[in-house]
Amino acid sequence: MIASGQPFHAVNSGKIRALHMPSALTHIPLLDVCRQTAAIRPQLDRAIAAVLDHGQFINGPEVKALEERIAAFCGVSHAIACANGSDAILLTLMALGVGHGHKVITTPFTFFATAGSIARLGAEPLFVDIDPVTFNIDPAAIAACLEGLSPADRASVRAILPVHLFGQCADMDAINTIAARHGIPVIEDAAQAIGAEYKGRRAGALALCACFSFFPSKNLGGMGDGGMITTNDAALAAKLRILREHGSEARYYHAVVGINSRLDTLQAAILLVKMDYLEEWTQARQHHAAIYNQALSRPPVAGHVYNQYTVTAEGRDHLKQRLADAGVSTAIYYPVPLHLQQCFASLGYRPGDLPHSEKAAATVLSLPVEHSLTDEEIKTVASLL
Ligand SMILES: Cc1ncc(COP(=O)(O)O)c(C=O)c1O
Repeated sequence: MIASGQPFHAVNSGKIRALHMPSALTHIPLLDVCRQTAAIRPQLDRAIAAVLDHGQFINGPEVKALEERIAAFCGVSHAIACANGSDAILLTLMALGVGHGHKVITTPFTFFATAGSIARLGAEPLFVDIDPVTFNIDPAAIAACLEGLSPADRASVRAILPVHLFGQCADMDAINTIAARHGIPVIEDAAQAIGAEYKGRRAGALALCACFSFFPSKNLGGMGDGGMITTNDAALAAKLRILREHGSEARYYHAVVGINSRLDTLQAAILLVKMDYLEEWTQARQHHAAIYNQALSRPPVAGHVYNQYTVTAEGRDHLKQRLADAGVSTAIYYPVPLHLQQCFASLGYRPGDLPHSEKAAATVLSLPVEHSLTDEEIKTVASLL
């Protein structure tokens, strides 16, 4: 099993196997990739064999097919595959010309890649607080942040990057309205939210463009890394296609400096197989979440795809230990808000600056919810709560 959210970065292949060690005790994993694979093994074997047979390991036909499939799924006209979700954000910011001297407004309560991609380009993440109920960036905090900046600093804000955390869309209407007032583009970090809905539209179609991850713990997870950018903007899509191939449209001619960030054909083939099951798997996650909601007397949340089912508890660490003692794996996404990460110390944030994010980091706990778990397993966890 793997922990999810982003976190397999810390839990890699050796430990994945370890989680499948037979045990006489109850073991309810957060995510069991081997169980997922076993359920569709023949289809995966056929898809992988087809790639081995045609041999187009780079930019093979499955990559284009997946791009078309994801674009249609999200309801947009363009999808551009890339190597991972972090690169999807990086490429998007590069395409928008974000660099030194620029700022990007984002949430501190997210996986590191959201802000890391901003910082890698020499730009500054401008962290604003979250809504304590949804854990998503608070539009009022974005507006207050922009209004509090000097005209020069406001002009240096080149993007707003909300995250659809845990599979629930941020309040995109409010965010888009504020962004439009200031003429700032909005990028969705939809890494955890494929299939999530907001007012009848899907994540990926809610802003200028959106970034997805196919990290194995995601609702649509590959067997390795993968990413995708969706947009309705043809010019932006064309730029992104060039940037992901070292800035070259015609081979060996480089109009701009890009990076090498392509999705492997093998991953695309695997993801195409999994696309056939995505809606069914999403419904299973939602069903599991409904079991928890009932047990905890929590209201249903429309459009949530539950990449994580996350609760808060004052005695979070104690709860985590008690669940572990009962054989239930849980995870803390995320223990340190990004404004307090050591690598961002030079930005000058202090504990207490973004209290809702800090409180969330101290109290959240994500429970097993993924599709291959059984109702019985979920009910066992719910009864322990
Ligand atoms: C919110 C968020 N943004 C970005 C990423 C980066 O994606 P990847 O791990 O594919 O680089 C992830 C996932 O890991 C994520 O959860």
